[in-house]
Order: sequence, then C-alpha cells, then structure tokens
Amino acid sequence: MELWRYTIKLLAAVVVVGILLVSTGTECRAVGKVGAVTTGSVFEYGAVSCRAHSFSVTDFGAVGDGKTLNTRAFQQAVDHLSRYSQQGGALLYVPPGRWLTGTFNLTSHFTLFLHKDAVLLASQDINDWPLAKPLPSYGHGREAPGGRYMSFIFGTNLTDVIITGMNGTIDGQGEIWWTKFHEGKLRYTRPHLIEIMHSNNIQISHLTLLNSPFWTLHPVYSRIEDCFIVSGDDCVAVKSGWDEYGIAYGMPTRHLAIRRLTCISPTSAMIALGSEMSGGIEDVRAEDITAINTESGVRIKTAMGRGAYVRDVYVKGMKMHTMKWAFWMDGNYGSHPDKHYNPNARPMVSGINYRDVVAENVTMAAQFNGIPGDPFTGICISNATIAMSPKSKEAPWTCSHVQGITSGVTPRPCSILPEKTVACQFPTAKLPIDMVKFKKCVYKVRHT
Ligand SMILES: *[C@@H]1O[C@H](CO)[C@@H](O)[C@H](O)[C@H]1NC(C)=O
Ligand SMILES: *[C@@H]1O[C@H](CO)[C@@H](O)[C@H](O)[C@H]1NC(C)=O
Ligand SMILES: *[C@@H]1O[C@H](CO)[C@@H](O)[C@H](O)[C@H]1NC(C)=O
Ligand SMILES: *[C@@H]1O[C@H](CO)[C@@H](O)[C@H](O)[C@H]1NC(C)=O
Repeated sequence: MELWRYTIKLLAAVVVVGILLVSTGTECRAVGKVGAVTTGSVFEYGAVSCRAHSFSVTDFGAVGDGKTLNTRAFQQAVDHLSRYSQQGGALLYVPPGRWLTGTFNLTSHFTLFLHKDAVLLASQDINDWPLAKPLPSYGHGREAPGGRYMSFIFGTNLTDVIITGMNGTIDGQGEIWWTKFHEGKLRYTRPHLIEIMHSNNIQISHLTLLNSPFWTLHPVYSRIEDCFIVSGDDCVAVKSGWDEYGIAYGMPTRHLAIRRLTCISPTSAMIALGSEMSGGIEDVRAEDITAINTESGVRIKTAMGRGAYVRDVYVKGMKMHTMKWAFWMDGNYGSHPDKHYNPNARPMVSGINYRDVVAENVTMAAQFNGIPGDPFTGICISNATIAMSPKSKEAPWTCSHVQGITSGVTPRPCSILPEKTVACQFPTAKLPIDMVKFKKCVYKVRHT
C-alpha cells in the first residue's frame, strides 16, 4: 500500500508528457495477459482496477448510426457513473457501432470500454468544441495566443481512470481542422484527441487512435509500452513547458519509461525531448525501440530562452532503418511563445546515453550542435553500428559545443567525442511505474 501511494505521488508529478502525433494512426497495444478476450458477450480484460457497476452508452439514449450526435448521452452517462466512484467505480461500455459525439469529460474511478467494432467519431462541427484555458506551463495555445479548443476526450484532477477495449477506435476525423489550420482560418489552437491533466493512476491501452485534429494522446502519466505509431510529426514528444511560462510553472517530466515502440515518421523523430522543456526533463529510459523511414532517432531539441534542463536520458537497444540522422541534438530550435522570454535562460543538456544501436541506410550518422558557451555534456554512445546509405555524400558526423565519449562506434565519431572503453549507463533499478500490476477484470454485456 505504501508503495502504491508512492507510485501515485510520482505519477502526479509528471506533467505534459505529450505523445505528439499528427493526422495518421497510433496503436498502443500490450499483448498477452493484458489483452482482452471475448466469449460470447463476456469480455475479459486487464486493468489496474475492475469496476463494480457497468452501463452501456445505449442506456443513455446513444445511437451508433454514425449520424446521431451523442454528446448529451456521453456526458450524461459520465455524470451518472460518477455517482458510483465511492461504490467500486463504474464502466461505460461502447458497443459495436459508429458513435458520433462532441467533446466529453471523464470522471474518477471510471472505465471507458470500447468493443472492437466500436468507433467513437469526433464531431466535425466546430460549435461542438468549447474553448479551454491554455496549459499553465505554456501560457498560450501552442499555435495561437489565448485559449485552445477542448480535447475530444478530456479529464482533469482525476484519479483511477481507464480507457481501454479490444483495439476499438477513437477517430478524431481531424481533416477539417488540418484544412482550416493550413488555410490560416483558426483563431485558437486545435484540440487534442485525448488529454488527461493533473491526474494519477491512468491507464490508456488497447485502442486504435486515428486522425487527431492535433496532438493525439496528451497524457500525464509515465509509461509508454507496446506502441505502433505512424506519424507526420514526432512519434513520442516529451515536453514540460514553454520558455518563461514553463520556467515559472516549474514542473518537470521525469521517470518516463518507453519500451517496445515502433515508429514511422519520415519528417520527424521517433522520440523527441523538447523543444518545450522549460520545466525540465530527467530520467527518461527508452528500451527496445525501432524506427523505420524516420528522420531521426531519440532527438533533443532546445533553444536559449528555454532554461531548465534535459538530463539523465538512457537509450538501450535502438534499431533504425532508412534514417536521415541516427543521432540529432540541437540547441538552436528557436520557436518562442512571445517576446517576453529571457534570451539568457540557458538550457542545460547533460548525461545523454545511447547503447546497443544498429542502424542501416542512414544519410548522416550524427548532428550534435550544442550552444556556444553552454555545451551539451556527458554524452555517451557505446556499441553502435551505423551503416551509411550508399548514396550518402555528407560527412557522417558533425559536432560542435558538445562533450562526451564513445565506445565501439562506427563510422568513427568526431574527435571531440573520444574513444573510451565503456558501456554507457542504463539504470537497473525499477521505476515505481514498473510495480503497477494489472488485474483480470470481467465485463458481461447485460443486453445487446
Ligand atoms: C487541479 O489540480 C491542479 C494541480 O494540483 C490545481 O492547480 C488546480 O486548481 C486543480 N483544479 C481543479 C478544478 O480542482
Ligand atoms: C489487439 O491487437 C493486438 C496486436 O495486434 C492483438 O494481439 C490482439 O489480439 C488484439 N486484441 C483484440 C481483442 O482484437
Ligand atoms: C535507403 O534510403 C533511401 C533514402 O535515403 C531510400 O530512397 C531507399 O529506398 C533506402 N533503401 C532501402 C534498401 O531501404
Ligand atoms: C551490441 O549491440 C547489439 C545490438 O543491440 C547487441 O546484440 C549486443 O549484445 C551488444 N553487445 C554488447 C557487448 O553489449
């Protein structure tokens, strides 16, 4: 119990971990014991909590014909189910069908459970999307001053929330937003597909997330496992606030574990740390990760004005195929919320470890550009084999304002990262999130 409370506290301290994904698809799936199985109308699924009560959205008048707007039904269902929070919690079942709805909020001790043939469709009428406040650590919408559109599925100040199912689909139908955005016709920042803020004990699993208007899953929890992400932007973006707003808010993202991620992102990174990192980012562990046809691997991006730090980053077991850069860090990202940032607020980048890396068909091995007078330190790369693309004409390594070491790396790194015989670090102590256990839960459909 003590341990569990500790876990919750730590989870609550992690803020703005963005899985940033644009207009394509995400599937995060844990297989094996945690997977959902069906026998007739009895579903077994793995979750951090099972629920004592259950309802179907049809109990609240929802119609899954793809045309009826079900916003009221979803909101009434959640309001009704919130009454069971102190009586074992409640599960809201979404049966097969196409369920059109506007934004709705979640509640505590609550499970949203999607059948495999259930599709939640986000309304394409902008009037169904109320405005919400900007993130406190951003001060602004990411794309425009002022507020931002409320996320499709939103929760704040909650505990014990599960969104799961049998790989059922949440489809943001984001195309109208992308079109308006590219035409410069939006006054406010686009909505996310799922956003959970100031919350703890959150599970989001066994879902297919599609066509987000903007960022796809913007959670406030710290383990990302078994994901397959196709993206037009960074597959996973780890952030913690933007310049003076992020510095003032001062909430770091830390103790983040990313495992068994497969990413396709031709114009962005598999995992990006930053560029908004003004609350600090530390203790990020990425293991068994694969990038295919992706611009870069685990990338660090920052700028003067951000302040704070990115430190203690550990990558172990990274496979890459068809990459522009295997390694990329830069301190010249720019992009400021407004003119009031402090141009002397230096970001500190230190303790960045990569080991056991295999990359094929790479255009440039590495581009490391620290900040003059503010070098990136403690870089360590060991046991890395990078096979260059036959067409590559670039110098494989470019380095400036960085310090560190390498060991067993080909092609030969730049001389400011000299050879030492070491294996770069990867922590062996478990994180609190590793102690979280899944229970086997059963849901029986009462009627169809
Ligand atoms: C939610 O939690 C945050 C952080 O603890 C707090 O600042 C905020 O006032 C809370 N909001 C509500 C609506 O309770
Ligand atoms: C969900 O997808 C995973 C990965 O493809 C698969 O192993 C699992 O059987 C699927 N579960 C269901 C209920 O369809
Ligand atoms: C290697 O990368 C280039 C792009 O740099 C791509 O056009 C080509 O198809 C890739 N080759 C293989 C074998 O994947
Ligand atoms: C080097 O990396 C490869 C590929 O990840 C791995 O199979 C191998 O065990 C590593 N070697 C050592 C000495 O750790």
